[in-house]
Amino acid sequence: MPDIVLLMQERRSQRGPFDAERPIATSDLKQILEAARWAPTAHNMQNFEVLVIDDKELLARVGQIESPASEVFIRENFEQLSFSEDELRRKKVGILGAQFPESWRTPGADFRAVARESGPSYLRDTMKGSPTVLVVIYDPRKRAPASEGDVLGFMSLGCAMQNMWLAAQSLGIGAQIMSVFGGEHVEKDLKALLAIPAHMKIAFAFRLGYSTAEGYGYVRVRRDAQDFAHHNRFGSRLDA
Ligand SMILES: Cc1cc2nc3c(=O)[nH]c(=O)nc-3n(C[C@H](O)[C@H](O)[C@H](O)COP(=O)(O)O)c2cc1C
Repeated sequence: MPDIVLLMQERRSQRGPFDAERPIATSDLKQILEAARWAPTAHNMQNFEVLVIDDKELLARVGQIESPASEVFIRENFEQLSFSEDELRRKKVGILGAQFPESWRTPGADFRAVARESGPSYLRDTMKGSPTVLVVIYDPRKRAPASEGDVLGFMSLGCAMQNMWLAAQSLGIGAQIMSVFGGEHVEKDLKALLAIPAHMKIAFAFRLGYSTAEGYGYVRVRRDAQDFAHHNRFGSRLDA
């Protein structure tokens, strides 16, 4: 197995707390940004800006931003959940419900009420001590040529995401995507705090760091290549 594929297999979402007192070395940060630099992007538009936050006081202020539970998120998240490791292994897609509050994974629940009644949540609950957060920003006024909904632009942002994530992995740095940073409820506050121009959008953020706790491992499942690869005609299986 080539090293690059092993690195891809080992990359994982680190959802546990990070050591706030163990910073990311500047040389490592530079390598992560260098990886973003070489990401493929539609029309080589390089449609991303990366805002690095490592000032402790600023991180604390970011952490104070409220991120209320969204009914839509809870409902659509529910559709992707498995309720046991066996179910997840059988399905090979989605995630284990145990990661979420009990009320978010109760069949038949009124998710509007669940969202309303969920206690307040703050970005610090997701950041969990990260010494460095990378916020990835783009300009929605510029789309990849003729790309409806700028789907090619979004794919390009994903390429930058993966390049940075693999670079972090290769340096032994833990990373987690925080989509909530681009969520409508927090984006306005973040943009004001971080002096992000009004016309720009937050795509996502990474939290980087070194794990301080065991017990945040989880079952990782994937479809087999035979499940998604087709041979010459859609639906005709490839003996991979
Ligand atoms: C576009 C995108 C958004 C994601 N958003 C989040 C997120 O907000 N929080 C999170 O914990 N993981 C997030 N993830 C990570 C996925 O949940 C994760 O990659 C998937 O469950 C597979 O697990 P693994 O990363 O450990 O292989 C995101 C991944 C992608 C590609």
